[in-house]
Amino acid sequence: MNDITRMNQEFGIHSHINFFRGPDNLIMIRMNNDHGNLSLSLQGAQVLEYNPSGQKKVLWLSQKSNYQQGKPIRGGIPICWPWFGDHPDNTSLPAHGFARTSQWTVSDSHGNKDETILRLALTDNQQTRTLWPYSFSLELEVCLNHQLSLKLTTRNTGTSNLAITEALHSYFAVGDIDQTAVTGLEDQSYFDKVDDLKNKNQTGEIHVKGETDRVYINTDKTTRISDTANRRNISISKSGSLSTVIWNPGKEKAQAMSDFEGSGYKHMLCLETSNALTNKVTIAPGTEHQMGCVIRSDSLSQT
Ligand code: BG6
Repeated sequence: MNDITRMNQEFGIHSHINFFRGPDNLIMIRMNNDHGNLSLSLQGAQVLEYNPSGQKKVLWLSQKSNYQQGKPIRGGIPICWPWFGDHPDNTSLPAHGFARTSQWTVSDSHGNKDETILRLALTDNQQTRTLWPYSFSLELEVCLNHQLSLKLTTRNTGTSNLAITEALHSYFAVGDIDQTAVTGLEDQSYFDKVDDLKNKNQTGEIHVKGETDRVYINTDKTTRISDTANRRNISISKSGSLSTVIWNPGKEKAQAMSDFEGSGYKHMLCLETSNALTNKVTIAPGTEHQMGCVIRSDSLSQT
């Protein structure tokens, strides 16, 4: 019996959860119910698409993305873990950690036409221990109902403290970045990665003008993307997260990236539920930490 048949027998749910092979033989999962559908890659436990019924796609996915074993996929919701951005002491280690390029396993699934839930797991193994010498168990719970909820749980299964930074690196699709605003981060302090990591204060709502790469710290606030060109609002509420990252590469950087389609920067905005920089999380042996986000898209006629 091949992997796909076995997974469908063990974790598939007729009309709601289905496993199949995607590009480069990557194992993909489709979740479906009355509220919409989504797809995920088992490599990286990465949500790739989220389409609430009757609405435009909520997530941006590059048409030039790599789909290769061990390579990050550009778009959707990559998981940055156990470090966000460059490794703090060793920049030869992979940016954003190894969870996004690791092979995860399925641990549980259930659901029906109203709510469908999938749990994916990653535990330390020889490969992870060469990059990061700690014992852990990591779980992503994906819940599709009238909204999309993700919960990332880190359990420390070792004997010393774990120090992590992390992000649910969500790429949102917007109709036109010039007609997009982010609210919820007014008056918050942030580190500006395109200006020597200077610490600044946000005045008013955020409008992306060119390359933008900011880590807002000490904030657990719900944020909202006003996607005016698509006549909708996307709200992102979160728990266990004190940082929110805003990233858009701008024209030049986007063109320099081989996996980023030319005009893609006009139609995406990363708003990342995270614990980054000074919001590092320390987890004692035998304990766990959970970070989650809830994504909801409302068309303007409904709000
Ligand atoms: C963002 C970072 O979260 O991810 C940026 O703040 C980074 O600095 C971006 O460029 C994309 O990272 P990557 O490794 O997926 O190209």
